[in-house]
Amino acid sequence: MTNMFKIKPLIAQSAIAGVANRDFCQKMLDLGAGMVTLGGFPADKLNCNASLKMEERGRMEFIPSVNANELSEWLNQNLLLNKRKKNQKTAVNLRIVTIDQITEKWLKSLDGKIDFLELNVHCRQKEVLSLGGGESLLKDLKKLNQLLTGISNSLQKTKLGIKIRGCSVGDKDALIKSLEKQQVNYIHIDSMLKGKNVANIQLLEFFCRSTDIPVIGNNSVRCIEDVKKMLKVGAIAVSVARPLIKYPNFIAQLIQQLEG
Ligand SMILES: Cc1cc2nc3c(=O)[nH]c(=O)nc-3n(C[C@H](O)[C@H](O)[C@H](O)COP(=O)(O)O)c2cc1C
Repeated sequence: MTNMFKIKPLIAQSAIAGVANRDFCQKMLDLGAGMVTLGGFPADKLNCNASLKMEERGRMEFIPSVNANELSEWLNQNLLLNKRKKNQKTAVNLRIVTIDQITEKWLKSLDGKIDFLELNVHCRQKEVLSLGGGESLLKDLKKLNQLLTGISNSLQKTKLGIKIRGCSVGDKDALIKSLEKQQVNYIHIDSMLKGKNVANIQLLEFFCRSTDIPVIGNNSVRCIEDVKKMLKVGAIAVSVARPLIKYPNFIAQLIQQLEG
């Protein structure tokens, strides 16, 4: 049974690898975000190696932030965020495909310091997909289940959430059914309409209606009307990523417009 929780204000900052570090997320909290998401970061050996390969082709945003020997200290320093309001939540977005020593360090360090570990079932970089990670986990529910079980068994206080790429889900009902058997506290859905810069509101609505697991809506939110459309179909909160890279204040603007 999933624990209900409150994100307030209803606007969240979605993961932005290479940008959403401690300073950026702290700024988001200071600007009043209801939830902030650190990362994403690679949190096992296979994903760290995949990130190094991505770096070779110029994708610097996915590199591990620190080498494995210094990880525990780095995590202790970089996961600490100061909330400014009672219902603000913190999450860290992680790419994991096998639970190994690096993952264990991550789990031990973040447990209790961050509200949610958000498993990245969204990444579509070829190096991650070739490991069976990122969005390819949407097509391998057995593996996804094993991963979620392993992660939740290692966490005492921090809860589990999942970030999915909606347009890549194969069997939506089967996915929901299997997430409902897990300790998944929210589904964060990038509901991009495939190939378009616009959200698929019907897809978001399907998820909101089909499960009691809280759903966070995401993709192409560029004005307050976009937020309202997502809330209207049942999202418990709405998240933003790209506009915040150049204009962090956008989050405060949306909150102000929503709350008046
Ligand atoms: C530079 C960049 C890095 C991103 N990194 C991640 C990531 O590490 N994990 C993840 O789940 N989503 C990641 N995303 C996806 C965003 O969180 C979000 O789902 C997507 O950009 C759509 O929302 P938007 O239209 O508000 O940007 C990234 C997006 C961008 C632009």
